[in-house]
Amino acid sequence: MTTPFPQSFPRTRLRRLRQAPWIRSLTGEHVLTPSDLIWSMVVHDGSDPKIPVGSMPGLFRLNVEEAAKAARRARELSIPAIAIFPHIDPAHKDEMGSEALNGEGLIPRVIKSMKDAAPEVGIICDVALDPFTSHGHDGVIDANGYVLNDKTSDLLVRQALVQAEAGADVVAPSDMMDGRIGAIRDALEDGGYANTMILSYAAKYASGFYGPYRDAIGSATALKGDKKTYQQNPANSDEALREVAMDIAEGADMVMVKPGLPYLDIVRRVSETFAVPTIAFQVSGEYAQIKAASQNGWIDGDRVMMETLLSFKRAGAAGIITYFAEEAAAALGA
Ligand code: PBG
Repeated sequence: MTTPFPQSFPRTRLRRLRQAPWIRSLTGEHVLTPSDLIWSMVVHDGSDPKIPVGSMPGLFRLNVEEAAKAARRARELSIPAIAIFPHIDPAHKDEMGSEALNGEGLIPRVIKSMKDAAPEVGIICDVALDPFTSHGHDGVIDANGYVLNDKTSDLLVRQALVQAEAGADVVAPSDMMDGRIGAIRDALEDGGYANTMILSYAAKYASGFYGPYRDAIGSATALKGDKKTYQQNPANSDEALREVAMDIAEGADMVMVKPGLPYLDIVRRVSETFAVPTIAFQVSGEYAQIKAASQNGWIDGDRVMMETLLSFKRAGAAGIITYFAEEAAAALGA
């Protein structure tokens, strides 16, 4: 926006509005509140309540009971929703990611125990096969390692139905197959889950920032090759708008841009172009960078955490999926 009147020094001294906390607060254009945060949480199937993730200091894989406690904690902190990601025992992985379709599997059990513990907290489930496949790709592969679009989409539909049946409020396809939003929306409608929301990972880039996540869910060593034939090229911006437009047309209720900070320009373009809630994902590598520099005493970690979260609001995000949710909400409530 351009200023509609001339401004010049010394009549205009912009520093006047910065001189004290009260006036800075009064003239602040954006605010961050706990209700902007979605708690990104990794769960596992073992008896250990909490297992630390080496590349993500402060993050733990939680078992089912601990995840239920975390849901109560989210409610206490006014965090509206939790996004859950599974660490799957390698013994349960196969080429097809079959475990993703197990109605008694880890994710359905976590959903049920969280819903028992804190039914007011929204549960968002990742729809993708990578935590479940022996090769670490988000879908099924052919003999050349190419991820097959339509075959994968069929499986994602079944995975989404398993999650909806277990009580997930939102299914969030993160796989980047073409056409899967429409297929999932139709299946939810037919299956009696018309109110289950879809948060589409619409503009998801093939990014190096996912490294620590693959560690956290145990797919790092499994992954053969990269995900560039399905995730977006970091060089592209217009393509993100095409992805988002298609996902909205196919029935997405909300769309996501991922990673977050390196793609703030995309968050801005998407939120300005489409009248749907845009969610930004501050991914594992972004979290790890801040934690590592902070542990070295090179930056003030709490301050940088808040600054990055606020930057998503400035860029137009309706919400932020972040591993900092608990920490940030606690700080905001203090
Ligand atoms: C996979 C998925 C990924 C993340 C969420 N879902 C990684 C990937 O695409 O390889 C990344 C989350 C993060 O880095 O925090 N479907």
